[in-house]
Amino acid sequence: KILIVDFGSQVTQLIARRVREEGVYSEIVPFQSAAEAFRAMNPKGVILSGGPASVTEGASPRAPQEIFEAGVPVLGICYGEHLMADQLGGAVEGGHHREFGRAEVEVVKPSPLFEGVWEVGQRYPVWMSHGDRVTRLPEGFEIVGVSDNAPFAAVANEERGFYAVQFHPEVAHTPHGGRLLRNFVRRIAGCTGDWTMAAFRQEAIARIREQVGSERVICGLSGGVDSAVAAVLIHEAIGDQLTCVFVDHGLMRAGEAQEVVSLFRFAYNIPLVHVEAQDTFLGALDGVTDPETKRKTIGKLFIDVFEAEAKKVGGAAFLAQGTLYPDVIESVSFTGGPSVTIKSHHNVGGLPERMNMKLVEPLRELFKDEVRALGRELGLPESFVGRHPFPGPGLAIRCPGEITPEKLDILRKADTIYLEEIRRAGLYDDIWQAFAVLLPVRTVGVMGDYRTYEYVCALRAVTSVDGMTADFYPFDMAFIGKVATRIINEVRGVNRVVYDVTSKPPGTIEWE
Ligand code: XMP
Repeated sequence: KILIVDFGSQVTQLIARRVREEGVYSEIVPFQSAAEAFRAMNPKGVILSGGPASVTEGASPRAPQEIFEAGVPVLGICYGEHLMADQLGGAVEGGHHREFGRAEVEVVKPSPLFEGVWEVGQRYPVWMSHGDRVTRLPEGFEIVGVSDNAPFAAVANEERGFYAVQFHPEVAHTPHGGRLLRNFVRRIAGCTGDWTMAAFRQEAIARIREQVGSERVICGLSGGVDSAVAAVLIHEAIGDQLTCVFVDHGLMRAGEAQEVVSLFRFAYNIPLVHVEAQDTFLGALDGVTDPETKRKTIGKLFIDVFEAEAKKVGGAAFLAQGTLYPDVIESVSFTGGPSVTIKSHHNVGGLPERMNMKLVEPLRELFKDEVRALGRELGLPESFVGRHPFPGPGLAIRCPGEITPEKLDILRKADTIYLEEIRRAGLYDDIWQAFAVLLPVRTVGVMGDYRTYEYVCALRAVTSVDGMTADFYPFDMAFIGKVATRIINEVRGVNRVVYDVTSKPPGTIEWE
């Protein structure tokens, strides 16, 4: 096991991911609880992440000193390097402006960190963070790699198993970085590299049992991969203590409710409450046009439904959610400043506080593709595991302006055609998410000899790694043309189709 202490870097989760890719289990903990976690976990090695703070400022975060005294190997990355220098008796100089960029590291000495990857006398591209830098090494350390701007680009105290780098080995812009991390976790820390998704499954099940005890758990199913994987995993852990609730808010895509209900009830034999709440949700949304009001209205009604269902099972103490790592970091601010709410994602926070329930979130350390791998491990059908994400508020946020049953119906038909064509062209798996949006705008057209005055349908398709940044998908124009023709011919109410070519940022994936 490897403990990763997080000092707030935007890419800490990538360290965990690279370590898992090397077949080694790791856990990320915020620096505030690092000491406890270190004692409880007894890891074979510790990685100190980067972070936005500066060790030259008095109140900046520190690593628990006991980590350096326990005889376990430690790797410091960027801020982690500065911490090691500072806490072990070296010196760090501040005052430079923080900036990320490409750089080259020249290997000046052989090191177990570089074995089989980097050779002495050669230069290698890395992703560097220029800012503070180490100016004097602690005793016992030597320089193993230099760069133009960072004379201490890579340093080591081989005897104690301490290594530190100024660059970021975990990001894709540092080629071979994953192999450097492998050297640390396998050669230096001595982890065996036999951790797999099957092992994660067993560990997660044990943790869920320990957390939940004999209490009851309620899990909302959205129709998406995350909540489905969480539910199947939790069911494996605690069986009938789990009640799954699928709320049909009338904002699902065509055929979605049926698909989810039959998968759970019949393929998995997991008890599922199917709440038909279309009238309640659509009633409450009547006349609502503001995107945040839509999200909040839907979020509040979800709470009402879950509360009622929790009562029916005799009081559930826990609420299960399929929260993933990117959801967690988007909602946590390490620097103390309140982070700006771009949108109220209601699968994170909010819900359990108001419901007075504790959370079970077995996927909080995973990335989407890892959740998919876990889903496969749990035997979920490929067609389900590979599904594009679908937001909790459903079609409500793909129907800007007022939501009416008529508009939802038009939107469902257009969306079905679009996805049918994407699948037929073999593009579904290359795309992170694709969907249609029905705009509250009508434009003039001509069909046959008639004038038409109907809605505009926008098509969206993006590629992404984790949903936090995204690029529009570069379809062949002939493909867009074909989809547009089909939608206009087959869906009454639409006479114009446009394609959204905005990336995120500055756009978001959904339109509201
Ligand atoms: P945005 O639109 O913020 O979306 O770029 C990023 C990803 O998150 C999904 N999304 C949501 N998922 N509840 C969810 O479960 C929500 O309220 C929600 N809003 C957006 C979106 O579909 C995309 O995959």
